[in-house]
Amino acid sequence: MANMDWSKEFGINSSLKQNFARSEQEFSAQVEQIKDLLQLSPADVLLDIGCNTGQYEKSLSPFVSHITGVDSSPVLIRQTQVLANVTFLVADAMRLPLGDKTFDKTLMVSTLQYIPDPAKAIEEMRRVTKKTILFLNIPDKTQKESYFDGINKLNRSDEEKETIRQRNNAVHWFDRTDFTDTFDARPPFFGALISI
Ligand SMILES: C[S@@+](CC[C@H](N)C(=O)[O-])C[C@H]1O[C@@H](n2cnc3c(N)ncnc32)[C@H](O)[C@@H]1O
Repeated sequence: MANMDWSKEFGINSSLKQNFARSEQEFSAQVEQIKDLLQLSPADVLLDIGCNTGQYEKSLSPFVSHITGVDSSPVLIRQTQVLANVTFLVADAMRLPLGDKTFDKTLMVSTLQYIPDPAKAIEEMRRVTKKTILFLNIPDKTQKESYFDGINKLNRSDEEKETIRQRNNAVHWFDRTDFTDTFDARPPFFGALISI
């Protein structure tokens, strides 16, 4: 199982932490799906927001020119591994200390639901990105209701989704059917691919 020791940062209970665990096989499948959706290429300069301890950086760094991994938790950033073409940064997704159009592509996985103002985070992602943004929330197969408290911030209100969509024209909202090959049998989840 991959190490996802982020729960203390959010005061999240231990059963929820277990729910987030994923097998190496599941993680590899997610990495492949992300590479495909973002159409990663060796010249790409990538940003990953909510990078946690840098798992995606480890897996994706061989396929791009550079990755910047951002997380608001210094505790988690301290646990990242040094990689030649990766920079880690402690920062808040709602106030990125990064220049306009610095990155070709931006990734955010299972993080948007924790951010108090998700629309602001998307706005920031749009500001720093040249081409494509992918954000996904990927629940575990064994989710309990509690996990969705966060996700429901985005899912429960059509009005809120619509506000975010309108502020980000060209948003494509995924639904489960977009991912049946990899995430079949999982609860519905939420995500979007944004073309700048
Ligand atoms: C559930 S983990 C997802 C980690 C990783 N993206 C993955 O899918 O394995 C959520 C991460 O978002 C980070 N996070 C939460 N709020 C944030 C914010 N406002 N800005 C940046 N990172 C944040 C947390 O510290 C945590 O590492």
